Amino acid sequence: MAPARQSSPRTKDQLHRAVIFLGPPGAGKGTQAKELARHYGVPHLSTGDLFREHVVQGTPLGLAAKPIMERGELVPDSIVLKMVETRITQPDCAKGFVFDGFPRTVAQAQWLGELLKQQGYKRPVVVHFAIEPALLIRRLTGRRMCKVGGEIYNVFERPTKVAGRCDNDGGELEQRPDDREEVIGPRLAAYEKQTAPLVAYYRRLGLLHDVDAARAVTEVFERVLEVVGGAR
Ligand code: AP5
Repeated sequence: MAPARQSSPRTKDQLHRAVIFLGPPGAGKGTQAKELARHYGVPHLSTGDLFREHVVQGTPLGLAAKPIMERGELVPDSIVLKMVETRITQPDCAKGFVFDGFPRTVAQAQWLGELLKQQGYKRPVVVHFAIEPALLIRRLTGRRMCKVGGEIYNVFERPTKVAGRCDNDGGELEQRPDDREEVIGPRLAAYEKQTAPLVAYYRRLGLLHDVDAARAVTEVFERVLEVVGGAR
């Protein structure tokens, strides 16, 4: 990806808030969240990545989440909220953080709003990745991730220089189990039913900013920087 624009109005040590990336599976939340977190020097908090780490480590949380994720359903709030609270009360989150994949239900959003207030953060910025569903299947079936650093590629849209190997560290690329076509349908359905209502929820609160997620990665990032940098 091209380097961030120098003209971004908010510098690294000025975030002090949560940025929430909201959008369907494959919209590009993870791709952009990694870049934005690097830009501000704050943590990228992907609840999906946290669950996948628990699955790899075989923790009780991972064992509970694995079959649910493989069916394309949402993990119950009782599990998600405890994991998020533990993570965002760590000292490295004091300057702000970028949420990718959380909140995903109105109940999660209400809980988060209270927690952020209690912790003394400014109002969050919510970036809505707007995109036609037709584009998502190609993005999801083509996605490959580095086993070492988690960098995200796409065999159609963002191929690596050497097939099957990460450009950054040479790590082996893998496909996520939930990127199989038979799981993508249930994931998109779960988004429409349980997560899409958050668009109206955050719009009502005056926190939502739409971004055209169908554009090229670098163009989407420019718009994300504008939105986050300009938020009051
Ligand atoms: P999670 O890991 O959060 O997955 P997701 O929301 O389904 O989102 P994805 O990671 O699939 O897509 P993305 O928008 O990040 O796209 P990406 O940038 O990779 O969740 C997985 C599971 O965990 C859930 O199903 C659930 O079970 C559980 N879970 C997680 N959080 C939960 C919660 N809060 N509550 C309950 N359960 C929870 O991009 C996709 C592809 O497109 C890549 O190949 C990329 O290279 C390519 N691409 C990206 N941008 C562009 C672009 N602009 N142009 C062309 N290609 C692009």
